[in-house]
Formats: sequence, C-alpha cells, structure tokens
Amino acid sequence: MKTRLGPKEILFPVPAALVASGTMERPNVAPVAWVGMMGSSPPVLAISLKKTRYTLELIREYRQFTVNIPPAEKFVEVDYCGITSGRHRDKFADCAFTAIRGEKVQTPIIEECPFNIECAVIRELEVNDHIAIFGEILEVHVDVDKIDGTSPKGIDIGKIDPLVYCTAIREYWSIGKKLGDSFDAGRRIRDRVGSGRRPGS
Ligand SMILES: Cc1cc2nc3c(=O)[nH]c(=O)nc-3n(C[C@H](O)[C@H](O)[C@H](O)COP(=O)(O)O)c2cc1C
Repeated sequence: MKTRLGPKEILFPVPAALVASGTMERPNVAPVAWVGMMGSSPPVLAISLKKTRYTLELIREYRQFTVNIPPAEKFVEVDYCGITSGRHRDKFADCAFTAIRGEKVQTPIIEECPFNIECAVIRELEVNDHIAIFGEILEVHVDVDKIDGTSPKGIDIGKIDPLVYCTAIREYWSIGKKLGDSFDAGRRIRDRVGSGRRPGS
C-alpha cells in the first residue's frame, strides 16, 4: 500500500555538491543539490539555481563554475555554505576551504573536496523561479590517494566517501556499502529469463 505526497520537489539521494563560482581572488561556494549529468559527448551537466542566488550572478558574469564533491565529514561546512550568502561572507575563509587552480577555468576547485569538475556555461534555461545552467565539462580531478591508476573505474568511492543529501527530508547521509557493478548485476536476471525479444518487438 502507498500514500500520495502530491507534486513536490523531492528526489533522493542526490549529491550535496559544492558549486564554486567567481575567481581565485574572490571565490564563492554554495551547496547545490539540484545537479545532474545531461549529455555525454561532449560531457554536459546541469545545475539549477534560484534566481536570487549570488552564485548565479557570478556564474553569469564569468560563464564558468566548478562542481566539487565534499566528503561526508564536511557536512557542517556544507550546511553553513547553504545558510550563508557570499554576498555577505567569504565562505572559503569561514570554512577553511582552500581554493586551488584547475586546468581549464579561472574559477577555483576546492582542495578539501576529493572530486572536482570544471565547467564552462553553454546554455541556460528558465524554469519558473529557477535557472538551469548547462555546463560543458572541460576537466575532472580526483585525489590520487582515492584512485587506483588513471581510469574512472579505479575510483574508490569508499575512500571518497561522498556526502549524500535527501531533498525535502533535508537530511545529510553518507553513502553506505557497495552492492554490485552496473551493466553487470542485471545479467543474473538475463541469464534466468534469456535474451530473446518479446513477440512483435
Ligand atoms: C544541502 C543544500 C542544497 C541546496 N541546493 C540548492 C540548489 O540546488 N539550488 C539552489 O538554488 N539553492 C540550493 N541551496 C541553497 C543555497 O545553497 C543557499 O541559498 C546559499 O546560501 C546560496 O549562496 P550564495 O548566495 O553565496 O549563492 C541548497 C542549500 C543546501 C543546504
């Protein structure tokens, strides 16, 4: 049996991503839970920002941003960045975050976040009181001690320990345990039912 919650902006879990904006000299940072991959070739992600965010102002000014995945232990700093505006505070200084240079954009990446994505704005879309920003991914960084080799397959999620967020419920979680590999676990059902197609397809 189920109960209805009505139409709500609720989806979980999602990353509690720290979006950095601005420049090395004057960087800003804010948590953004409304983030997702939108295309692969070239790789594109999108974030959605309320029109009033200072972060949006800076992204529009510099046409660049970075997405930084914090470790679970940084949830207090992440939350602080979400209840404080860069219009009034230097959140990098308040949280003792270190702004370091990426490769492709002038907006910094965050040293204390083990996984970082550099983006250049390619498009924006008005969604009522939010603006969805589409960013082409120009470079991705991961801490060397969280990866075995140079392939994404070598990323050790347990070591990255990414902070997870549940919208609407408004709770921070850590990731839990690995269950299996994608494009592989489903083979167990395929092996049982066979790979033949349904009639007429
Ligand atoms: C966990 C968390 C996730 C958030 N996700 C978003 C989001 O996806 N989009 C958004 O516009 N604001 C989001 N916010 C709110 C902004 O982070 C918050 O308003 C922040 O203070 C904006 O900072 P700024 O004024 O320096 O841009 C979130 C806040 C928290 C705590």
